[in-house]
Amino acid sequence: MRVVDLIKTKRDGGRLSAGEIGELLRAVTVGAVPDYQGSALLMAIVFRGLDDDELTAWTEGMLRSGEVVDLSSVRGSKVDKHSTGGVGDKVSICLAPLVAACGVRVPMVAGRGLSHTGGTIDKLESIPGFEVNIPIQRFREILSRVGAVLIAQTDEIAPADRKLYALRDVTGTVESIPLIAASIMSKKLAEGIDALVLDVKVGQGAFMKTAAQARRLAQALIGIGQRMGKPTVALLSDMEQPLGLAVGNALEVAEAVEVLEGKGPADLRELTLELGSEMLQLGRGLTHDDSRRELEARLASGAGLEKLRAIVEAQGGDPKVLENGGAGLPQAPEKISLAAPRSGSVRSLNAELVGRAAMLLGAGRETLEDRIDPAVGIVLQRKTGDAVQAGEALATVHGRVKGIGEAMLLLERAYRIEDEPPPSRPLILERIGGSQ
Ligand code: URA
Repeated sequence: MRVVDLIKTKRDGGRLSAGEIGELLRAVTVGAVPDYQGSALLMAIVFRGLDDDELTAWTEGMLRSGEVVDLSSVRGSKVDKHSTGGVGDKVSICLAPLVAACGVRVPMVAGRGLSHTGGTIDKLESIPGFEVNIPIQRFREILSRVGAVLIAQTDEIAPADRKLYALRDVTGTVESIPLIAASIMSKKLAEGIDALVLDVKVGQGAFMKTAAQARRLAQALIGIGQRMGKPTVALLSDMEQPLGLAVGNALEVAEAVEVLEGKGPADLRELTLELGSEMLQLGRGLTHDDSRRELEARLASGAGLEKLRAIVEAQGGDPKVLENGGAGLPQAPEKISLAAPRSGSVRSLNAELVGRAAMLLGAGRETLEDRIDPAVGIVLQRKTGDAVQAGEALATVHGRVKGIGEAMLLLERAYRIEDEPPPSRPLILERIGGSQ
């Protein structure tokens, strides 16, 4: 194989064979493809795309570049959920324990936040002692004993994706539906799951800004899942504004706990129940309504919260910090309210600007090396459609002196207040795949 020939084939709109793709990705994994050739090929794919066979071969090549976790010794169905990333999205932290409490196992390899979006791993690390770097053997053991486990990507999982993602990040080649789809699915399929539920975010706080783009990504992801024998369903969900009220790591953990206590913001609770219902339909063959009933019963009985406590304990944390509204989690010293400049209704609340304001406080990172401050963030008091009087609080910033002024300015820009509320927008825009 000469990489330059593959680049020329793709550049001219040709197809790469499964053999060529497999060989290429093996060479990428061992560092035998120079970055200039890797980048040129990625750019050709951005413009020319990959057809279904190429996409399957690309995903399989990245999957086989590392270890595929063997979960055959763990009894029961294993189903995971993946979100394409948003602001205030702490669903995994309430969903994984709730679904595990209903008897479906959840082996979750989760990500860190990048840019204005948050990551489950950073949120979980705000729980003192919580370990996210867990060897595969212990991952399997916790999954078997507790029913759910949430860890960071290890070096063994899809190393070709790690290398290519780093290259894409600095060569303007992230924004390609086949490359995104293969990247996500190679990591998820390496977890040893039986089925997968996807939460594809749509809106100004998401990767995919329009429903049409999100639908194309969902279809590419589902197609890979189907061709690889893993039933996959996607919900397209709204990310025009943040999910829930809390944005920032410890604040989001506390809000996820509220949902498991049977409280919490309605949108976060609803999305958790709908994604959970998809997971139970795939994992246990229940109907949508029976799944919802079972999940709601586990919320009401406190079984979901009990399961989260068990996960925290199994992964080295102290579940007591979750009590009394997360009083034992890191707390920011300064709390400053943003007052509404006029009376009216919140016409829109820009999720990306809220995410960037949280980043300025230290809740997110610009580069993978930046350190996160787990305590800081934003709690929204008003969201889209809410009425507000001039001078009332729109949101509270939890921060340290550094960065607060700039964050407040961005947050102010995120709110648009007008006389009339906007037309209501559904939380779940569409369901793709599956049988119902
Ligand atoms: N998330 C991933 O894991 N990969 C991408 O390419 C984009 C988002």
